[in-house]
Amino acid sequence: MSDIASLQTGARLRQGSNIGQPMTRRDGVLKVTGRATYAADNNPEGLLHAVVAAATIARGRVSRLDVAAAKAHPGVVAVITPENRPQLAADPDDKPNPLAFRLDLLQSDAVRYAGQPVAVVIATSLEAASEGAALLAPQYEVEAPRVDLGGESFEAKIVGPGFPGRAESGDFDAEYAACDQTLEATYETPAQYHNAMEPHAIVARWDGDRIEIDTPTQAPAIALGTVARFFGIAPENILIRSPFLGGGFGSKGMLAGPQVLGVMAAKMVGAPVKLVLSRPQMYGPVGHRAQTRQTLRLGMAADGRMTAIAHHTLAATSRFDDFVEPASNASHALYAAKAIRATHDATRIDVGTPRFMRAPGEAPGSAALECAIDEAAFAAGIDPLDFRLRNYAEVEPMHGKPFSSKALRECYLQGAERFGWAGRPLEPQKLRDEKGRLVGRGVGTAQFPAIMFEGKARAVIRADGGGLAETSAEDMGQGAWTALHQIAADSLGLAIDAVEFRAGSSDLPDAGIAGGSGHTATAGTALYRAGEDAIARLTALAVGDRRSPLFGAGNVGVVARDGRLSRQDDESRGESYAAILARAGLSEIEGSGRGVADPATEEAYAKYAHGAVFAEVAVDPDLCQIRVTRLTGAFAAGRIINPRLVESQYYGGMVWGLSFALHEEAVHDRRSGRIMNANLAEYHVPVNADVPSLEAILVEEDDPHVNPLGVKGVGEIGITGTVGAIANAVFHATGIRVRRFPILPADLLREMARG
Ligand code: MOS
Repeated sequence: MSDIASLQTGARLRQGSNIGQPMTRRDGVLKVTGRATYAADNNPEGLLHAVVAAATIARGRVSRLDVAAAKAHPGVVAVITPENRPQLAADPDDKPNPLAFRLDLLQSDAVRYAGQPVAVVIATSLEAASEGAALLAPQYEVEAPRVDLGGESFEAKIVGPGFPGRAESGDFDAEYAACDQTLEATYETPAQYHNAMEPHAIVARWDGDRIEIDTPTQAPAIALGTVARFFGIAPENILIRSPFLGGGFGSKGMLAGPQVLGVMAAKMVGAPVKLVLSRPQMYGPVGHRAQTRQTLRLGMAADGRMTAIAHHTLAATSRFDDFVEPASNASHALYAAKAIRATHDATRIDVGTPRFMRAPGEAPGSAALECAIDEAAFAAGIDPLDFRLRNYAEVEPMHGKPFSSKALRECYLQGAERFGWAGRPLEPQKLRDEKGRLVGRGVGTAQFPAIMFEGKARAVIRADGGGLAETSAEDMGQGAWTALHQIAADSLGLAIDAVEFRAGSSDLPDAGIAGGSGHTATAGTALYRAGEDAIARLTALAVGDRRSPLFGAGNVGVVARDGRLSRQDDESRGESYAAILARAGLSEIEGSGRGVADPATEEAYAKYAHGAVFAEVAVDPDLCQIRVTRLTGAFAAGRIINPRLVESQYYGGMVWGLSFALHEEAVHDRRSGRIMNANLAEYHVPVNADVPSLEAILVEEDDPHVNPLGVKGVGEIGITGTVGAIANAVFHATGIRVRRFPILPADLLREMARG
């Protein structure tokens, strides 16, 4: 593996012994022995329990709450309603920046979606608080809600985290009109809910105007800013601890309303308060993936090369906020065409505001795009893998920029080889297994942008020669405790066990957000720079000191390894970190670092991770039960910090893709607007029996441009190719094209009954 470019000097530093190793999770033992402390595991002295009462209508107002009945319950300490809610320092309906979400903090009696908090009950036990909440027995004035995509729509100017809602290159209309063959198809994706195993939870403790909070968040500094804004306190008076998340997937990117209500409750009663959402309460106030309807129009030459791609998304958003799922962005860079048009409309419905959910935009967008590509290939009589290779984008097609790296061709070829793609019949319904089931094979392309946020870190070399690295980085299950620690150790030239690593708290240097598959690149770069800065300071001490064997070695260069600095031209000449610090009379030396995208390479290159996913399904010809029998994904994502963790991320993404393809859907009752399956029994996610043998191939890719570490993200890409691959395999098995997700046996039965 190549060396890492030195961040300060541009020279190449030698990679140490940690990056690239398949180390097991540093926090693994803590987790499997139950000693990892999640937010709700905190039970400070005098703790009270808060329970949210949630609206059972989707639109209207609360006309009555039986507060007296709730308060009369023994154990109930207080009830917060819009009438007695403490004054906040900011209006929850204000957006301090376009990325902030409007929160429901009991600001009025209006109900904007089912599941919206309408009151909070605080009691001496969880049971008493729950009973008190039930006794409120809200009555409502009900208005008819809308929860489908059928209403008025409007053009979305801004989508996702701030992308333009419309992007266009070339003249789509002219190219589409002039091409030899066209394919137009419309796909629907449902509302999906993040369903992190750990529900949103908070333990809040005020001490005068200071507050300590335990809550899961993907971005401690953003959470801290939210608390500061609503409660009008100085940031330095707030401490947020978030060492472990039981999953986040975007729903914990920014504080959700119920977390802020927990802080409010603690303030009101003047005691520590714990508030934990129940599973059904996770369907509403903490975000979801929006419903979409997407239309693809593909224009091709006679040889199957595409000349025109149009991707239009209609996405649902809430009545009171603006988040629009950026699904059409999936078509920006994946395939070459002279003309590409990606557009978004939105429609307002009576649901909680959708948010980022693992592979926002790209997951539903690539589901539709990859099915359309398969349909186009079939219409053109071309093998779907050949079709993709024929339409391979050698440069980013909309602006003609080179990719910082793109090993997608290798992904296709290595994946196809391992999966056994060759010899797949072009026609559907040609394969059967030994049980007589219809067998189909499909492929989908995976793609996710490689981005960086902004993060900071601090590194220290201690008198004993060991190290410390710290950043507020968040481990939400992806392995940040391990991968970032590996990076920190390499940058300090130390074994991982010689470096203490601290993360997951707002009093550490701000690592930005664990999201967008950008955390390793961001926090990792900050940590690397911090370690390098500490080493540079240590080096300066040594090379300027006549008593050091490194005196005057500044020009030949110095190598930091195994706790020693030595001359690059003669590694036998050097000395230990401890010796250098001792002679200088220092107890430690400190460095700091920042991780942020380089504007020059951002401008010059298109930066994406890529992959190819191959799926095999078996479909019962009578019952139409669909089983995924094999999934092989080949992914190229730049430098791999820890192959064991990366493989695990790919598996997780692929399982979620399977879930998207065949299981997940929040079903709304059109009359009441309520979600009818707001629980994990009826909101289906794959269980082990649904998940076949999974294979993830880590395709080698050296990216000198994407960022100094050469790291692309791996958290989200696994979903993106998988949905299409499975849907296309179902078509290949049955000859039936289902254009809505999840694909259900009933969809196939209906078509089969039609003959
Ligand atoms: Mo992700 S949806 O950016 O946590």
